[in-house]
Amino acid sequence: MPSDTLAGANAVNDVVSIEIIGKIGLIALDNPPVNAASHAVRSGLWQAVETLQQRVDVEVIALYGKGRTFIAGADIREFGKPPQDPWLPELCNFIEDSEKPIVCVLHGTTLGGGLEVALSCHARVALKGTKVGLPEVTLGILPGAGGTQRAPRLAGVAFALEMITSGKPVSTQDALENGLIDRIAEGDPREVALSAAEDLVSGTLPRRKTGEIEAAPDQAALEAMRAKLAKTQAQLFSPHKCVDAVAACHLPIKEGMAEERRLYNACMDSPQRAGLIHAFFSERAVAKVPEASAEPRDIQAIGVIGGGTMGSGIATAALLAGLPVTLTERDQAGLDRGTDTIAKNLDGAVKRGKLSTDGREEILSSKLSTSTDLTALSDVDLVIEAVFEEMSVKREIFGTLDKVCKQGAVLASNTSYLDINDIAATTSRPADVIGLHFFSPAHVMRLLEVVVADKTAPEVVATGFALAKKLKKIAVRSGVCDGFIGNRIMTFYKKAADYMMMDGASPEEIDTAMRGFGFAMGPYQVADLAGLDISWAANKRRAATRPAEERYIPIADRICENGWFGRKTGQGFYIYDDEGPRPNPDALAIIDAEREKAGVRPRSFTPEEIVSRFMTAMIAEGTRVLEEGIALRPIDIDAVFLNGYGFPRFRGGPMHTADVIGAADLVRRIEDYAKEDGYYWKVPELLRKMAASGETFAEMNARG
Ligand code: 3HC
Ligand code: NAI
Repeated sequence: MPSDTLAGANAVNDVVSIEIIGKIGLIALDNPPVNAASHAVRSGLWQAVETLQQRVDVEVIALYGKGRTFIAGADIREFGKPPQDPWLPELCNFIEDSEKPIVCVLHGTTLGGGLEVALSCHARVALKGTKVGLPEVTLGILPGAGGTQRAPRLAGVAFALEMITSGKPVSTQDALENGLIDRIAEGDPREVALSAAEDLVSGTLPRRKTGEIEAAPDQAALEAMRAKLAKTQAQLFSPHKCVDAVAACHLPIKEGMAEERRLYNACMDSPQRAGLIHAFFSERAVAKVPEASAEPRDIQAIGVIGGGTMGSGIATAALLAGLPVTLTERDQAGLDRGTDTIAKNLDGAVKRGKLSTDGREEILSSKLSTSTDLTALSDVDLVIEAVFEEMSVKREIFGTLDKVCKQGAVLASNTSYLDINDIAATTSRPADVIGLHFFSPAHVMRLLEVVVADKTAPEVVATGFALAKKLKKIAVRSGVCDGFIGNRIMTFYKKAADYMMMDGASPEEIDTAMRGFGFAMGPYQVADLAGLDISWAANKRRAATRPAEERYIPIADRICENGWFGRKTGQGFYIYDDEGPRPNPDALAIIDAEREKAGVRPRSFTPEEIVSRFMTAMIAEGTRVLEEGIALRPIDIDAVFLNGYGFPRFRGGPMHTADVIGAADLVRRIEDYAKEDGYYWKVPELLRKMAASGETFAEMNARG
């Protein structure tokens, strides 16, 4: 680039520009929203460094990012596409090899490849509040642009291992104390870049080539991490490869990076990488709903009706997000119970460092108010009803809300299964009524199903999504049906588990097989935890309308008849006492008796068959939920299961798993199982079409 064109900022390409200010060559990156290191960023940066190296008047180079962050990582959208030169590792080496010193300013969330670029510069200054991290492991890969080699050289093997295997960002203070960065500064990134460049020239900011530093050996840290991961993350692929890569940091940098590349490629080829990246994009894409362009209503204060399990959790979530809450209950005892649970939840937040003791006191004394009278909700902007799961109770409450709430207030129900259209019909303002289905414990679980009824106004839907954002939850849009997306599919696949239990598999065998697939808990452990009485009540409610052709397994009901409701009563499918959970022999006896009564000759099930039947059922019902338009896209179902039902993240969700299995294979399985029970096992039309055309759920997601 000719020197006379370099007055003021000069575009190298669409996303990289350079300025010459005295002896400083200043490079700015501008690739919104997160300055991801796309091909344009990489090639522009390479070209900018090359240009500035050739300039005789330039003594020092400074690099910064415009917008909300310095580079937040490689451009994940380019993964799986043919690689384009220059690669990030080559760029990092090129930067490190520069004869002219390069200083980099970090701000926002300097993550992954962004931090790797910074580590290859000769000095690093971070703005106060910057988060720095190497989150690649959360995407099923490892830092592949020298991060596993340069981080331990600067910060030590133990610190680097922790960062790389956890994927968690660290604060600037931590990064400074451990040598990952050289200075913390305040101000505008461009100004900080200029003053850091001056200091690099004067020597007040030391310069180093990271690759030339020797990492202090720490075999003990490597062994300790291997032992920890073998216990806690045995099923995952990339964390173990991260340790192998860090172990190579004692080799010369180029050799270490070659080993890092080999391990990175292995991760890239693993199905876990595809699953985890699918999960990353799903959780962002679910916010793209038809109502997203509507203006959400302003939510300054909320009301919660019912201080039981869910109401107290929802109130806690809102209070932790800074929203004042008015809690109502049937009587003072109910309010006391609810307030007590909220206080305990807040204690937990204090213990985990999410809330100060003063913050806890302030919330309880001035943000939470309580009443036994629904008129106390006359001023709130949004009400969430979380009372017993009985339509008559909900109808009565919504009728009253219609009378007492101000115009424009959003009226939401947390019902798990009931029809939001019916609930809305009890008011004169159905456009304001919506389902906001939280998951237990509501202040912990990230999922919120936003259930859109026939007459719900678009801005009310947008308000549900805005509330989820405020509560740091992932909102997924669902249409109205019995159980919405998640509980409807769960009710269906739970039957597949019950059929296997009746036909010969023990609850423990089923749970073990599903844990082997990656679930944190199997379906019977979940049932015991949630309380068997809840599904018992639902079974009784549905008994009158249950079709005669449906095979019904009464085992859980028989267990409940003994007053055994799972964890809360000390026994259910398992026994819970000081010895730790173990199969309940009395439940096993009930299973035997029911098999005998039904004339079933028990057979054995392999873990593979258990997983196959369970997953096939989940996918079949998921496909019907999609066909009916209850879920907008396959990713919505995936996001629900990943965030509300403990689905193994590395498998990307049920519909991503369906693509891995393939529609044709799924159709074959369903037809095979249908030979025993053609009422339960039916091939969804969409799946049959996909098997014929070869279309995948991923292609449907891409169509939007
Ligand atoms: N590549 C491509 N797109 C990205 C991206 C990336 N690395 N990071 C974020 N985006 C996109 C998101 O998909 C989203 O797009 P959308 O608006 O179309 O949905 C948009 O940027 C904004 O992202 P968020 O909604 O997540 O914004 P937040 O402000 O909430 O969070 C963030 C910002 C903390 C940077 C978060 O996006 C994040 O964690 N990103 C991923 C960071 C990461 O994992 N980096 C490592 C990448 S792998 C790597 O670097 C390999 C290297 O070692 C070789
Ligand atoms: P719960 O039984 O723990 O709490 C219900 C509370 O509502 C009780 O404290 C009761 O006193 C109160 N209540 C009843 N009638 C009332 C009225 N007229 N006015 C004020 N308060 C009243 O029940 P839980 O588990 O909290 O469930 C509440 C709702 O949330 C139900 O609709 C349920 O289906 C749904 N839900 C439950 C989940 C769970 O895991 N427990 C998960 C998601 C939704």
